[in-house]
Amino acid sequence: MSTPDYLLLTGRDTSVLLETQDDGAPLWRYWGAAIRRTAATAMTLPALQDERPPASFTLNQPVHFPVFPGFGNGWFNLPAITGHRQQQDFSQHFSTRRIDTDTEANSLTIELQDTVTQLAVTITLALCQRTDVLSVNTSLSNEGTTPFALQSLAAGCLLLPAEGNRLRYVGGRHNAEFAEHEVQLGRHQFSIENRRGITSHEFFPGAVIAEAGTTEHQGLAWGAQLAWSGNHFQTIEQLPDGSRQWHLGEWLAPGEIFLEPGATHTAPTLLATCSQQGFDGVASNFHQAIRETVSWPGNSMAPRQVHANTWEGIYFQHDMADLKALASAYAETGVERFVLDDGWFRNRPDDRSGLGDWTPDATKYPAGLKPLAEHVLELGMSFGLWVEPEMINPDSDLFRAHPDWPLQVQGRPLLTGRNQLVLDMGREVVRNYLFDVIHQLLSTLPVTYLKWDHNRHLTQAGDQFGKPAWHQQVLGTWQLMQRLRDAHPDVEIESCSGGGGRIDAGILKYTHRFWTSDCIDALSRIDIQRGFLQFMPPELMGSHIGTAPAHTTGRSQGLDFRAAVAVTGHLGIEFDVRSLSEQDKAALKSWLNFYKTYRVLLHGSRVWRGRIGTSFSWQLHAEGGEGLLFVYRLQPQTDIYEPLLRIPGLMAEHDYRVRWLNTDFARRTRKPETGFFQQLQGDGLTLPGDWLGQRGLALPPMKAERCAIFHLQRTA
Ligand code: GLA
Repeated sequence: MSTPDYLLLTGRDTSVLLETQDDGAPLWRYWGAAIRRTAATAMTLPALQDERPPASFTLNQPVHFPVFPGFGNGWFNLPAITGHRQQQDFSQHFSTRRIDTDTEANSLTIELQDTVTQLAVTITLALCQRTDVLSVNTSLSNEGTTPFALQSLAAGCLLLPAEGNRLRYVGGRHNAEFAEHEVQLGRHQFSIENRRGITSHEFFPGAVIAEAGTTEHQGLAWGAQLAWSGNHFQTIEQLPDGSRQWHLGEWLAPGEIFLEPGATHTAPTLLATCSQQGFDGVASNFHQAIRETVSWPGNSMAPRQVHANTWEGIYFQHDMADLKALASAYAETGVERFVLDDGWFRNRPDDRSGLGDWTPDATKYPAGLKPLAEHVLELGMSFGLWVEPEMINPDSDLFRAHPDWPLQVQGRPLLTGRNQLVLDMGREVVRNYLFDVIHQLLSTLPVTYLKWDHNRHLTQAGDQFGKPAWHQQVLGTWQLMQRLRDAHPDVEIESCSGGGGRIDAGILKYTHRFWTSDCIDALSRIDIQRGFLQFMPPELMGSHIGTAPAHTTGRSQGLDFRAAVAVTGHLGIEFDVRSLSEQDKAALKSWLNFYKTYRVLLHGSRVWRGRIGTSFSWQLHAEGGEGLLFVYRLQPQTDIYEPLLRIPGLMAEHDYRVRWLNTDFARRTRKPETGFFQQLQGDGLTLPGDWLGQRGLALPPMKAERCAIFHLQRTA
């Protein structure tokens, strides 16, 4: 055996280390805190083989964990690939054809080949030196002369140490996305599979794995997420030495990828990161990386405008005079963008018909949408429109004209969801139709924003030839979005799917906001938004102030609490503000002003999230010595005094001026206040960073469902 070479990528604070081998793909050696060497060659390391003396009942040539493990050639754990050619070539083993390093991109491109099955794999690993996010891009090529039936392909296979034994994943359901679930990893395999055809409310395509002692802000944690808007899987499995492998990829339906000779299949991009600053360190790395991928009109993010979205305010009751009055009321409150939701197009009195027929309803809008859009513009707001391009109601002119356009399986009755079917986005004729109708809307109306919805899951996803079409569906949708973006580069797009059913880094290449959840009950939203922020930054998080009682839960919270929960994301209003008392109107206006004052800080900064028992949840957005701290009391008091909150991220040797900003919004009733809480008001108090970080800030008396907001400013 020749002496191995080491391939080292070092990012800002972390490193990835691979070891070459004579017959095989490079082996995984390490992913964790940075190994500070200028080059791997400067290190003297034992070859992995030498650390693994022969054990009983093992093969004479044991296979260790490579970047791309094959199947049936000595690797007993989960393989990166399964498939066959008409029952042949079921066993794959890849050796290295070529390795290229790109020092500028801090990346490695590894070309692998299996001369027996005539398959080739290319994997590019790039570790960003700014964000510490490792992107993995994998593609598989068929170099044989017959088709290869691909059953599964990992987008990336990651190595975790044995200590990484706590898994936190997020998921839930419509109206309850991003709930956190923690699982203790052991010898068993842990697996999540999503077959809903979209990213799904049920399982976000990513997770975080941490060591036992890792907290929100300290300790080692590893995160991964797939940039993919369709079916997905992730599997974590213990390896023979107690370490773990973590595979993520697209979940493929039987027969879905039939790789013709000469063809290449590309897996979704995998984003992965490691941090020594706990779950929030992982979140911060992801936020930075995601911020770099969004393609903004004008190439940089404009301050996130306050939205008014008509859905929960009026549902399908569209009346021109009423809508104009509503728009005027929103403008008066300080709203900057008016989004006309579902109900504006023909044959759409409710959710049973009309999808596909994307022209304005002539009875609701006799002169089209222009008069409303112009009224909105005159009020100084921008105008946005709701569409659901991939959907079609059987009761629509489009379906009557093209009953073969929806995905379907011949011989089976059509299964509807919310009374609708899904168009086959793999078909060019379908995409062209959708491009034309949306292009027409965008060209004739002053629309600068699309809320792009997707209100059902995919099943019976067969194309016109009876073949499975989940994969094509994602690519077709992305393609349509790109074409519309190219034709209308000033239009922003929001990705919505019954709230948060399509939130992922893949669709984010074409979109600019996520509708986080249809649930805008503020108490529920605290947890939903916390889960979202693990993977995505706050400026992409659509967060609206809803009415009380909340339409989805029936619970009621005060306006101040609802607003305090919504202002940390991309703010909106989702109720008819004309129903408010004068006092609440004034309060709402001041919340919008608060948001406008602080949005640049809220949306460009690092985010920390925390809980104190079950009574408090808090969130800190801070950058460059300035921060905003939101402390939410969830439950009524059980202790006599409020707890202390240790504030992370402060510089120990500096002082910070702490100001309690919302003493009037908080509407506390417990009096009298002690001198300390009085001093925090107005100009605030200057306190040492290490005191605030180590001992903690004393919190004022707060009733349940109240929020206290503090402003922190580092003094010179
Ligand atoms: C979905 C969205 C809502 C709204 C409705 C309209 O449920 O999440 O915000 O747009 O569709 O039908």
